[in-house]
Amino acid sequence: MENAMIELSELTKRYPHKDKTGRDTYKTAVENLSLAVGKGEAFGLLGPNGAGKTTTIRMMTLLMEPTSGSIRYDGADVRGHEQAIKRLIGVVPQHVNFDQDLTVGENLELHARLHHMGKREREARIRELLRYVELEDVRNDGVRRLSGGMKRRLLIMRALIHHPRVLFLDEPTVALDPQVRRRIWALIQAMKAQGVTVFLTTHYIEEAEALCDRVAMLSSGHLVDLDTPAHFKEKTGLPTLEDVFLKLTGKKVSS
Ligand SMILES: Nc1ncnc2c1ncn2[C@@H]1O[C@H](COP(=O)(O)OP(=O)(O)O)[C@@H](O)[C@H]1O
Ligand SMILES: [Mg+2]
Repeated sequence: MENAMIELSELTKRYPHKDKTGRDTYKTAVENLSLAVGKGEAFGLLGPNGAGKTTTIRMMTLLMEPTSGSIRYDGADVRGHEQAIKRLIGVVPQHVNFDQDLTVGENLELHARLHHMGKREREARIRELLRYVELEDVRNDGVRRLSGGMKRRLLIMRALIHHPRVLFLDEPTVALDPQVRRRIWALIQAMKAQGVTVFLTTHYIEEAEALCDRVAMLSSGHLVDLDTPAHFKEKTGLPTLEDVFLKLTGKKVSS
């Protein structure tokens, strides 16, 4: 792909695993996954629980080494460029992982320091982000006291603190009610409108359709197909992506 922001080539991850008899073996979570994400594109990895979505994101965000295969950002292999890539990307993990004993402001402050932002820059950015998601009033509250939707918004703001050019979101709206989900979608759309490349995973078909330019369907660690939501429907003649997924994999995407 010309103008690719991210390129995965035959990415594979095997986890150590004990079989029924207690013998050491391995479990393949992702196998030979190759795909490219364009600059400014919103790309979705769609698949049911256990498909390998989190494993893929963890490898792409350098939280875990692949067993084999390669990852490139803007043409350069990640190996040897870890610091530059950590500056380039922001990561919203699947599970809320704040320090729950800190306040909203302290959590953002901590992250800004990890990115070596100066005091004045930190303060301005934290104010801007909290204002943006209407969390200024809870700045001094403990994170524990926030609602699920507020925690999710804060998690996204934390990932954005250092102005990343690529934003990863692992199942950004799981367990949120529809109104909160729409709010998170609007936030993601706003980031894309600012030119940020978005890579998200989801097992909600509507989410992939609403947010993504292209969708990769993942089943048991394998790439089943990759296309725009409109093309998927056109070529299979089916009305919804849910039907397309079922037809291609024989599985339901959401259980
Ligand atoms: N740390 C781990 N050790 C062993 N197996 C794992 C580990 N993490 C995930 N797996 C297995 O790898 C497969 C893919 O998991 P995951 O990447 O979390 O999928 P998804 O995010 O799509 O639900 C699953 O079968 C899961 O049980
Ligand atoms: Mg997952």
